[in-house]
Amino acid sequence: MSDFTSNFWSVYVTAITLGGIIACLLLLWIASRKKVVATTDNTTGHVWDGDLTEMNNPLPLWWVGLFIITVVFGLCYLAFYPGLGNFAGKLGWSTSGEYDKEIAKANKELEPLYARFTSMKVEEVAKDPQATAIGERLFMNNCAQCHGSDARGSKGFPNLTDADWLHGGTPEKITETLTAGRMGNMPPMAAAVGTADDVKNVANYVLSLSGSPHDSLRASLGKAKFGACAACHGADGKGNPALGSANLTDDIWLHGWGEAAIINIINNGKTNQMPAQAEKLTAAQIHVLASYVWGLSNNQAPAKAAQ
Ligand code: HEC
Ligand code: HEC
Repeated sequence: MSDFTSNFWSVYVTAITLGGIIACLLLLWIASRKKVVATTDNTTGHVWDGDLTEMNNPLPLWWVGLFIITVVFGLCYLAFYPGLGNFAGKLGWSTSGEYDKEIAKANKELEPLYARFTSMKVEEVAKDPQATAIGERLFMNNCAQCHGSDARGSKGFPNLTDADWLHGGTPEKITETLTAGRMGNMPPMAAAVGTADDVKNVANYVLSLSGSPHDSLRASLGKAKFGACAACHGADGKGNPALGSANLTDDIWLHGWGEAAIINIINNGKTNQMPAQAEKLTAAQIHVLASYVWGLSNNQAPAKAAQ
């Protein structure tokens, strides 16, 4: 993989690096050949502070030897390790490769710890105190930055502790969400709905679905236009987990509550992504995490029917 977007920079870096080494050698060569015309006492003839003179001796051999060794070392290093622009080096060493190796080693060491949980069902793992402790640690390290340390989410990032699911809250669906990620995509709908006034009417109809404060005249006018939304949100507005379309009847608002927020989403649409974890976490880690997440909404409260 190259970190350079254009080959120019690779050539530029290579030229400066090799040019620097060649310049060192050249300097060494010139210095060893060129003799300042010496006076009879073998000094350069310069005198400082009254009596300080400079001898005109050649470079000591050991010093020249060291110099050449560093140059040879530099060239060997550049041949084996990355340093010359895009050239990866003969050993193929890289910091990310080193990191991957360390992660693989750590995962290998942790395998026996996870082995016990892999054979258990999500419902059982969710009740296991050790698995819950591991799940919580994994959640803090990998998920809390988006879903919050209490997993209650924030605007745009779903609350994982309630029974409201965009993509389904069964153990299988949660595992699927973590493994492959999710892409929530609502296209801009203004054109399909009609005028700005129609959009406002539909927004009020949406508000009425959850019993939120709304203008009932506008809501009744908007109802007819909701057909444009029904394909994804369902005729009853309860959403469809297969599409990740939100339930509009539950008064839980991922992207903000109120007429203005809904008008905004109808006009501009929304793309919202949950990143896939399969590359980052092992299947066993995802299993423990899925159990932890499932437990957040099912352990404390009496199990609600997951959508
Ligand atoms: C970069 C931010 C980010 C990170 C990190 C992240 N998520 Fe998400 N997650 C999201 C977003 C955004 C969504 C909503 C996707 C959508 O709107 O369809 C989401 C959705 C979900 C859902 C589906 C919720 C539903 O209602 O169906 C689950 C479950 C989930 N995340 C769990 C996790 C877990 C566990 C982790 C840690 C491994 C994690 N997420 C890490 C941003 C993130
Ligand atoms: C092509 C499918 C599709 C259509 C058509 C569609 N939506 Fe959506 N809508 C979605 C998806 C998917 C989401 C969830 C976005 C996300 O993952 O965050 C969503 C989210 C929303 C939200 C945000 C809910 C929240 O919790 O904040 C509102 C409001 C909404 N849609 C209203 C509408 C209205 C009104 C219409 C009709 C004018 C409509 N949608 C048409 C797919 C659709």
